[in-house]
Amino acid sequence: MQHLKYLYKFLWKHKLKLLVGTFFVLISNFFALYPAEFVRKAFDTILENTHNINHFNNTNKIILKYTSLILLFSVLKGVFMFFMRQTIIVVSRYIEFDLKNEIYKKYQQLNLEFYKKNKTGDLMNRISEDVSKVRMAVGPGLMYTINITTLFFLVINRMLDINSKLTLYTLIPFPLLAISIYYVSNKINVRSEKAQKQLSKITAITQESYSGIEIIKSFNQQKNILKNFVNQCKKYTKKQIDLIEIEAFFFPLIIVLIGSSTLITIYIGGLESFKNNISTGNIAEFIIYINMLAWPIASIGWITSLLQRASASQERINKFLKIKPKINQNKTKKTLIKGNIKFKDVSLIYNDTNIKALNCINLEIQEGKTLGVFGKTGSGKTTLLDLITRLYDTNSGKIFIDNIDIKKINLSSLRSYIGYVPQDGYLFSGTIKDNIIFSSDNYNYNKMVAAAKYAEILDEINSFKDGFNTIVGERGVQLSGGQKQRLSIARVFYKNPLMYIFDDCLSAIDKQKSKNILINLNKKMKSKTSIIVSHKISSLEKLDDIIVLKKGEIIQKGSHTDLIKTEGYYKEVFIKQSSNLENI
Ligand SMILES: Nc1ncnc2c1ncn2[C@@H]1O[C@H](COP(=O)(O)OP(=O)(O)OP(=O)(O)O)[C@@H](O)[C@H]1O
Ligand SMILES: [Mg+2]
Repeated sequence: MQHLKYLYKFLWKHKLKLLVGTFFVLISNFFALYPAEFVRKAFDTILENTHNINHFNNTNKIILKYTSLILLFSVLKGVFMFFMRQTIIVVSRYIEFDLKNEIYKKYQQLNLEFYKKNKTGDLMNRISEDVSKVRMAVGPGLMYTINITTLFFLVINRMLDINSKLTLYTLIPFPLLAISIYYVSNKINVRSEKAQKQLSKITAITQESYSGIEIIKSFNQQKNILKNFVNQCKKYTKKQIDLIEIEAFFFPLIIVLIGSSTLITIYIGGLESFKNNISTGNIAEFIIYINMLAWPIASIGWITSLLQRASASQERINKFLKIKPKINQNKTKKTLIKGNIKFKDVSLIYNDTNIKALNCINLEIQEGKTLGVFGKTGSGKTTLLDLITRLYDTNSGKIFIDNIDIKKINLSSLRSYIGYVPQDGYLFSGTIKDNIIFSSDNYNYNKMVAAAKYAEILDEINSFKDGFNTIVGERGVQLSGGQKQRLSIARVFYKNPLMYIFDDCLSAIDKQKSKNILINLNKKMKSKTSIIVSHKISSLEKLDDIIVLKKGEIIQKGSHTDLIKTEGYYKEVFIKQSSNLENI
């Protein structure tokens, strides 16, 4: 259970509420205890007066008194149980909130490498299922533990006061009850987890089959997909049936064990009553006590298994919270920069694949100049850009911005200066407007329209029925590839940053539109450092400088006019692309 120690800080934070909650538990148990005594007294009164008709009215009054008291105490017990839940369970929801936020904050800090290593499903589970399991331990788990302990001591004390022999006999089945409930709950948990996992699988399959619907249909794979789906559903049903089988044991088990305790009470209690050691009312009182103890004792097993699961979940959460972000956040003051970028002997090997994506890059982009990056697929273009945005850090060598080591610049201020259009322009499932203004904290309609205009997408947006309020379907499925790219570009224009970084984001845009965007960019880029990665030479020819990458190394460097005069890869591609066939 040591992993749950992490929760102390949260429990401490809410200590007052928890203390008040414990107090409510005590009071509610106090009110739960007395009705049993009233029942005994009522029984004994009836027994004493059954043969005396003259005492009827008096007996009636006494019985009425006890009935009202039982009713009153039950209501009070209920009221305090309500308060008990209102405090302890509410605290568990606060802790759930705190823990979820802590995890989410961590997600935001961790770098790209972490996301490449971990599956989305696992990350989602940490924040949803694992936190829920922990909440169950700090909510119901804690509440029932306090409840059981106090109730147990109060009731057993009361029972021992009446008759210790009868107490011992009636309690015989109880340890058995606790152990078997523990065993059954554990099995229930294991099976329910299996069913849950299967359900997640079905959800994943369903989700994939919707998002990949175009490919499924075009490859005519509907039947196979359906077959797979039905198979997974069958497995799920089987797992649910397994679960129901074991769940069906739960209540009968409790009933059998309470029943046996009750029988023992009646039998031993009867014998004791004959010997005049207890009254018959005591037997009734005992039966009530047994019923009061049954659920708490059954809960011991349930709580133990709850705590075990919470501990396993917390262990996973702790492991993840301990991960230190590899990219140092650098909380120094916001650094004012102008935009001179310098690479000095920069290399990068990706840890997970051991691929040397960049090898000893030396490069300088003067403030306000434009650089084109050209090269075959896999040559390291995206990697080069990722180092500037610090999605990754260099293994060796240094990058300087305005002669300041990039690692010494406040990370969030660095990123605020950069307008980055990634290669796979991701769109969120909101409206077009949401996607464009995403890059800034302020909303300005005119700026948004201008950004769309510069990105050559304004006409299309206006032609949509809902204009800027058109919902971009999940992953932007309602838009064409080129439209998605242009929206990603509009997002960056709206940001109006100090530096522009375009990663092959004109690939699905026709030549004329690409040209216009670049002209607009040129207008905007005036005095702004920009890097443009492209496979199309037409997108690079106007830039100040161009580098050609091959296997992570710069093999050619110069302006477009220089490069087309020099024998090499750039010139080869230029000739091919200039021919009508490739010049799309
Ligand atoms: N996150 C990563 N983890 C491990 N290896 C990576 C990662 N990203 C890229 N690589 C590898 O690094 C090399 C350079 O990749 P990079 O994405 O920089 O190429 P690129 O020039 O942008 O290619 P493209 O034109 O296809 O976009 C490739 O061999 C690739 O397999
Ligand atoms: Mg790339």
